[in-house]
Amino acid sequence: MKFTARNENELVENIWSVLTKKVAPSIKIGLTGDLGSGKTTLVKGLAQKLGIKEPVTSPTFTISKQYNTNDNKWPILRHLDLYRFDDISKRDLEEISEIINLENGLIAVEWIENMPKLFELMDFHIKIKVGQKYERQVEVTDL
Ligand SMILES: Nc1ncnc2c1ncn2[C@@H]1O[C@H](COP(=O)(O)OP(=O)(O)OP(=O)(O)O)[C@@H](O)[C@H]1O
Ligand SMILES: [Mg+2]
Repeated sequence: MKFTARNENELVENIWSVLTKKVAPSIKIGLTGDLGSGKTTLVKGLAQKLGIKEPVTSPTFTISKQYNTNDNKWPILRHLDLYRFDDISKRDLEEISEIINLENGLIAVEWIENMPKLFELMDFHIKIKVGQKYERQVEVTDL
């Protein structure tokens, strides 16, 4: 599925409507797109949708950041950012796979292409391309 988002809000709303069609105890999304394309912005928007009040910032010194939501279906949001993981050891992969295998919420992985093996654990691949100004071309692939 492809769509053009004219602003941040459209990006979040469209993705939220795709995700909420899925009735499952967990949902896992891999996010790709250039620096500044909107991956973190999307995760922040989804966090808001889940009723998370605390500020969501990209995990930089930890592999994963975790938030309690106000959502009955998906009680936990886990946010991973693999930007710095271009040299991945087997141990890193095991540790990260373990987090991703938890089945109790929404898991979003930025820069997942740095660990391509993780794609097989995802439900969706969301690709964001920068267009003019606030415009983003988005491709959602069901995995
Ligand atoms: N339609 C849009 N969707 C998402 N972000 C947008 C949009 N229009 C403008 N922006 C802006 O683009 C920037 C996206 O930055 P963001 O940190 O989300 O990117 P990122 O993909 O996470 O980058 P990085 O790879 O560095 O983590 C923000 O400043 C955001 O306000
Ligand atoms: Mg980011």
